[in-house]
Amino acid sequence: MSELSVKHLLGIKYLNLQDIELIFKTADNFKEIINRPIKKVPSLRDVTIANLFFENSTRTKLSFELAQKRLSADIINFSSSKSSVEKGETLLDTVNNILSMKVDMIVLRHPNPGAPILISEKISASIINAGDGSHEHPTQALLDSYSIRERLGDVKNKNVLIVGDVMHSRVALSNIYALQLQGANIMVCGPKTLIPKYLHKLGVKIEYNLLAALKWCDVVNMLRIQNERMKSSYFPSIREYKKHYGLTMSHLDLIENEIIVMHPGPINRGIEISSDVADSKYSIILDQVENGVAIRMAVIYLLAKKNTFKVE
Ligand code: NCD
Repeated sequence: MSELSVKHLLGIKYLNLQDIELIFKTADNFKEIINRPIKKVPSLRDVTIANLFFENSTRTKLSFELAQKRLSADIINFSSSKSSVEKGETLLDTVNNILSMKVDMIVLRHPNPGAPILISEKISASIINAGDGSHEHPTQALLDSYSIRERLGDVKNKNVLIVGDVMHSRVALSNIYALQLQGANIMVCGPKTLIPKYLHKLGVKIEYNLLAALKWCDVVNMLRIQNERMKSSYFPSIREYKKHYGLTMSHLDLIENEIIVMHPGPINRGIEISSDVADSKYSIILDQVENGVAIRMAVIYLLAKKNTFKVE
C-alpha cells in the first residue's frame, strides 16, 4: 500500500494498521534524510501549509515547522492562546480566511475536543490534528510507537505502561488506540480520580500501585499533570502525587526487568519524573523529539500526496 486510507489525520481512531506501517516506512526514509548534511528535500515545493495553534505549544509547533521546512513547503503561522477563541463560527471564519489565501493543508491545535473534526467537515484542505483538548494527539502517539519500535524492534506483544493524568491526556488516548492497533498490551496507573472509568472497556489493564505496574512493563510513558484542563482538585497535593506516582531511580533499582522510559514533554522534573531518571540511560525522551520530525514529515508528505496533484 502506498496511500493512506484517510484524507485528514484527525485521530488514531480513524487509522488502520496499514496506515501506521506506511507512516513508519515513510518516516524511516525521512529519518535517514534528516541525518544527512543536506537535510532538505523538494517534495512539497508547491504545497502551502498553515499552522494554526490556539493553545500553547513549543515542541509540537517547532517540530511541525521543521518537518514542513525539510519538505520545502511554504508555511504560514498563526498562534493565539486566548481562551476566548471559541469553537464554531469564530474558528471556522479564521480557517476560511486562511484558506482563501490558497492553503493546501492545516495543522490545528485547539483546546476544544473535536475542533479538527468540525473543521474537516466544512473545508476541502486536509487537516492534521496537533492536539485537540483532552481528546487526541495522533502525531505524538505515532512518534511514541515509532520510538518504541526503534528500541525494542517491535511494538507487538510489548507491555506498555502509561502513568499519571490519563483522564485529561490526549497523549494517553491516542497512545492507547495506536498501541492496541499494533498488538501491544496496555496498562494505566495513576490516582483513581485520574483514571477514567471507561478504560477497562477498551481492554486496558488498570493498576494503582506504581511499583507493581513497573514490574509488569517493558516501556513506561510518564504523563504530565494537565493542570490547565482540571476544573477541580483531583489529588490532595503535588507532594502527595509525587510520593505515589513520581518515577524515581529507586523504582528502577527495585525492579528486575529493564525498561525504557518515555515522556511526551514538557517534563516537570521532580514531579512525575526525577531528574536522574529523565537523564538516565533508560530515558528515550530526546529520541522521541528527534523522531517527531521524521514522523511529521511522513504524515504531511503522505496526506499531501493523497490530496494534491502537486506531490510526486
Ligand atoms: C503534550 C500535549 O501537548 O498534549 N505535549 C506535546 O505535544 N509536546 C503533552 C503535555 O502537554 O503534557
